[in-house]
Amino acid sequence: MSKRRKLTGEMSVSSGLAAEARIDEILKTAGQHDNTKLERLLKEYKFKDVDAVDVQNADGTTPLHAAVASSAKKQVNGDGESTSDESAGCDTVRLLLESGAIWNQLDKYEETPGCVAFRLGLLDLYELMVDAGVRAEVLLNRLEGYERLGDEYEEPGEDATDTATEAADDGTLGNDDEAPELVDTAAATDGITNQAQLDVNSSDYLSSNLLLTRDKLLDGERNGVMMAWESDIMKRSVDFLLSRPGMKVLNIGAGMMIFDTFVQNHANKPEVHHIVEAHSDVLTNMENQGWDKKPGVTIHPGRWQDILPQLVAENQTFDAIYYDTFAESYSDFRDFFTEYVLGLLEPDGKWSFFNGMGADRQISYDVYQKVVEMDLFEAGFDVEWHDMDIPELDAEWEGVKRKYWNVQKYRLPVCKFMD
Ligand SMILES: C[S@@+](CC[C@H](N)C(=O)[O-])C[C@H]1O[C@@H](n2cnc3c(N)ncnc32)[C@H](O)[C@@H]1O
Repeated sequence: MSKRRKLTGEMSVSSGLAAEARIDEILKTAGQHDNTKLERLLKEYKFKDVDAVDVQNADGTTPLHAAVASSAKKQVNGDGESTSDESAGCDTVRLLLESGAIWNQLDKYEETPGCVAFRLGLLDLYELMVDAGVRAEVLLNRLEGYERLGDEYEEPGEDATDTATEAADDGTLGNDDEAPELVDTAAATDGITNQAQLDVNSSDYLSSNLLLTRDKLLDGERNGVMMAWESDIMKRSVDFLLSRPGMKVLNIGAGMMIFDTFVQNHANKPEVHHIVEAHSDVLTNMENQGWDKKPGVTIHPGRWQDILPQLVAENQTFDAIYYDTFAESYSDFRDFFTEYVLGLLEPDGKWSFFNGMGADRQISYDVYQKVVEMDLFEAGFDVEWHDMDIPELDAEWEGVKRKYWNVQKYRLPVCKFMD
């Protein structure tokens, strides 16, 4: 079961004064970085439905929050210099993580311990929290993989729901179990998201009516599918991919056709330009704009999961591939590059994707960058990251259900086969 709890108004602590006093003592000790005493308290103090290492006070402060927050306090060393207590904080954070602390609990200000470290500029502590997130995420992705393998090998006649329930009972992730997730408050985003961040699933999205305005494309629930502020990202992605004229380009997910328009207008205009698009409203819009009649352009109506196997079977290959879908999970994306890019990309080709994973929160964005880098490496790809400043976005979110972008720098990935 995923070690992650939602922060509700009610904290998961045993009731009564004694419990509150014990929680305060644990938090105070964590904040003082007194590891010997902290270790003892974590062993001694038992709570009804929460591990001592994960207790929260009324503000949602956990021992990790306390250990991080107090690290910003200035200490005066022997030479009279003012220093921060970050290295002692790191030792306490390591102790708490080794004792099984949940890395991403939210306090009442909606901050994880890593968010607190980031806000206070405690970069060593922030790195420790990012690494803890990466470890948890990699483990959960592996568990999800085992569960899917279990589903495939279901005994004939066995009910799928039984299998899921059994999986949940024996500690692996089943359909009814808590899904892997980074941070609860995350929104459905343009691009790839962690499965649990999706508050819209692919089939609901594909059957919903879309609303296209001058500067955004929204689904039936007013989730932002694509927004005009992403134009610079699309432009730079095209610039990185189109390195010479006459290339063969494949784009997955047309949206507002911003990426595809930059491709068509580029100085290095491609000879072949394939577009895979699954939503009927987007396809109608493309037809209305005459995309189906543009020389060199081939539109494949349907989900990439159904279209790409045909392209692979026909031995079609591309010099440049771009992936930017909506309402799909990280594991869909991983399937895309492990199963299809390998067969579709020319040996010296390049590919990229809209990097929106976890972008509603800096620590989630940083954790995902490391997770995807590991998975790309395992699949045989090198990735270069190019930072782009994202201007302050404000009015852009008017009429959009959730702000899915909350980090200051976009990290644009350019991937190629490893040498
Ligand atoms: C974020 S938009 C793409 C925006 C595009 N890059 C642009 O520049 O305007 C995502 C697009 O992917 C499409 N899509 C979602 N799931 C898909 C799938 N499985 N296969 C193909 N297209 C999909 C959506 O309908 C939507 O048009």
